[in-house]
Amino acid sequence: MKNSIFLPFFCILPCFLKLASGQNDFSDCDPKCVFQIGNLTSKSIGSFPKKCSKVCSKIYIDETSQLSAAQLKSAFKDMKILSGRLEIVHTTFKNLSFLAGLQTVEANAFGVDISGNPGLEELGLTNLTSISGIFFVTMNPKLKRLKLPSLKNAQLHSPYTMTPAVSVSFNSPQFCLTLQEAKILLNHRKINSFVFFSKVCKPGNPTKKNCVVPKIGCENLVGDLKIGPKFDFKKVKTLKFLYGSLIVKNSSLTDFKVFENLMEIVQMNSTKLAIDVQDNKNLQSAMFPKLRRIYTDHMIGVLFKSNHNSLKFDFKSCFSIRNAVNGPDNHFSTLFDDLSCEDMEKLKKPNGGR
Ligand SMILES: *[C@@H]1O[C@H](CO)[C@@H](O)[C@H](O)[C@H]1NC(C)=O
Ligand SMILES: *[C@@H]1O[C@H](CO)[C@@H](O)[C@H](O)[C@H]1NC(C)=O
Ligand SMILES: *[C@@H]1O[C@H](CO)[C@@H](O)[C@H](O)[C@H]1NC(C)=O
Ligand SMILES: *[C@@H]1O[C@H](CO)[C@@H](O)[C@H](O)[C@H]1NC(C)=O
Ligand SMILES: *[C@@H]1O[C@H](CO)[C@@H](O)[C@H](O)[C@H]1NC(C)=O
Repeated sequence: MKNSIFLPFFCILPCFLKLASGQNDFSDCDPKCVFQIGNLTSKSIGSFPKKCSKVCSKIYIDETSQLSAAQLKSAFKDMKILSGRLEIVHTTFKNLSFLAGLQTVEANAFGVDISGNPGLEELGLTNLTSISGIFFVTMNPKLKRLKLPSLKNAQLHSPYTMTPAVSVSFNSPQFCLTLQEAKILLNHRKINSFVFFSKVCKPGNPTKKNCVVPKIGCENLVGDLKIGPKFDFKKVKTLKFLYGSLIVKNSSLTDFKVFENLMEIVQMNSTKLAIDVQDNKNLQSAMFPKLRRIYTDHMIGVLFKSNHNSLKFDFKSCFSIRNAVNGPDNHFSTLFDDLSCEDMEKLKKPNGGR
């Protein structure tokens, strides 16, 4: 993942237009509901199949389209399912509420690309529940929110190794994903690769389950989890998802059994470690009971240092953690006292007389 982060941005549109243009197969569509032209302009909009609830097309709207939001709203009034592609680039729309009735985008090779729209503040596709193919929302400098409150299913897949299935990046510095959007767009079982230069929004009204500081009963923590010499471990018992760093320093922990429900750690800030564990002199095992995914854009991602001496022989924990790190290119993502998991495996046991 790390090597491929920057490549897609130079290649998104040219690559896709080339790769996807050969596929023009709407054979399972009502011929009356195929909009073959794709490019929506003031000339072509008259032939858009307005009355169809399922439209098959590679819809393309850009700055040359010369269409108002009202014209688009009228064209898309009945469209609930779009099979093909939706590309909206370089336009000046504030939101895409003209597509508020759209519920499903069915796509195989492409999907949704909303990029380079200088005025866009939110998508506002408020009825959109399912997306497939690829999902790109990039380089919209005013975009602060996706606003996809109904999104439930994202079965996203990129057929190209250098291009992620999801990229939500380079939008407004204030951009953030809601917890619900983050969970769906980061579902590793359904999405094969992602790039996020984003963050998760702090919940406006923290609840028992969604908190911004560790709390008893909390399941989703948005913020760093800092554990020091004094910490009430009841506060992490129920924690499942951490959107921030796990920082454990100078604690008395001997192992990580206290994180009994923790499944995912997501740290989208590339300057921050996802896991930072230092100076825990009693810590002898780094095995997390349930941790299955770590999202990190940091060069290292997971760092263990100066803990109990025996921890550097715990290569099994090292591999287990590293296997949870996103992407195939995670080889250097996990270090224990500057050792890789392979280095650790080669070390003899502490009492084995090295
Ligand atoms: C659609 O728009 C794109 C980008 O402006 C252009 O390259 C392409 O030729 C257009 N296709 C048609 C059929 O007009
Ligand atoms: C969406 O943009 C239109 C202008 O195109 C504006 O009238 C409308 O209020 C906006 N909707 C929201 C929810 O901001
Ligand atoms: C969105 O869905 C709701 C509930 O099904 C429906 O009442 C509403 O009309 C839809 N919105 C649009 C813009 O179609
Ligand atoms: C741990 O505590 C010691 C002594 O209080 C302090 O010198 C050290 O900086 C602490 N380590 C970390 C990582 O905070
Ligand atoms: C990432 O973390 C750094 C250091 O904590 C902070 O200054 C920066 O604002 C963060 N970036 C984002 C996008 O939140």
